[in-house]
Amino acid sequence: MNTAKHETRVQNFYGTGIDGYHEYHNGYLNFGYWTVPGMRYEEAAENLIRLAGNTLKLRSTSCLLDVGCDMGAQDVFLAKAFRPYSIDAVDLTEKHVVRAKERARRYGVDSIKLRFCQASGTDLPFPDEYFTHALSVEAPEHFDTREDFFDEAYRVLAPGGILTCTDYSLGREPKNILERALVEITRRLWHVPRANVYGNAMFKEKLHSAGFTDVFIQDISASVIPGYYFEHRRWESMREMMKIRGLWKGVIAGFLIDWAVYTAYQTGLCEYILLRAEKPKEEKISRPPSPTGGGGYYTYNCLARFMIV
Ligand SMILES: C[S@@+](CC[C@H](N)C(=O)[O-])C[C@H]1O[C@@H](n2cnc3c(N)ncnc32)[C@H](O)[C@@H]1O
Repeated sequence: MNTAKHETRVQNFYGTGIDGYHEYHNGYLNFGYWTVPGMRYEEAAENLIRLAGNTLKLRSTSCLLDVGCDMGAQDVFLAKAFRPYSIDAVDLTEKHVVRAKERARRYGVDSIKLRFCQASGTDLPFPDEYFTHALSVEAPEHFDTREDFFDEAYRVLAPGGILTCTDYSLGREPKNILERALVEITRRLWHVPRANVYGNAMFKEKLHSAGFTDVFIQDISASVIPGYYFEHRRWESMREMMKIRGLWKGVIAGFLIDWAVYTAYQTGLCEYILLRAEKPKEEKISRPPSPTGGGGYYTYNCLARFMIV
């Protein structure tokens, strides 16, 4: 796959209608974590980010990296709810980063605590061992490839650092041509590289190959996918999406993607997972020397090692 072309397509996909989008749903794009009947979308979206923050065990000494931060709503929430030492948030879509910076200013979050920049999850502009925690919510599926992101996350985490993602996994292999078509259509509409379509066993294998240990994966689909699907079938939601992204991207393509994911979930093909993995405190695996030469940890974040829970 040509990464530059793929990333341009992803940016076009997410950049369309952004001017109207940033206030809709309070700036959140995630699927939500629907644990209480009658929840509003914004509550479910924040509930998902709270789950991620709790899984990471964020605290006041944490130096967090957020990859695929969208328009920054989740980082403003994390900054306020968990009060970590710092958050560096990156996204590939430049328009998202512009909106994220505006949002942080509007909500009065200190720009030393919360910084945004444009970057790809597969080429992170940070020194080795710079963070205590790394997060990516519903973004690794787009990365070319997710595996390269795992390597980068491992590199920028200090020993003992924690990675948490919410992501999509193949629940089982497609059985026939119709199921293969469903997976392929969803993948293409959603700009997911073919190399990222696999199940939980492969997730674990790739995380272990990157060097992570204590890998934990939980299927939380039932509290995520139906809630999001039905939220988007509400007349008010469709009307907003039509205004923001137009008939094709907002309503028709949006419906097709939602329908494909929902159908794939109902037939056991798609799972929504929460994962957590740790970088060992003592590196047991012999890895090639980092191209950046290491040392970032001591230069930039020398306290981080002692702050990890
Ligand atoms: C489905 S949205 C999720 C955003 C946000 N985490 C949320 O849950 O609302 C996916 C995000 O990943 C970003 N993205 C896609 N490919 C990326 C890459 N290679 N590196 C960094 N961000 C990327 C997109 O720009 C988009 O903001």
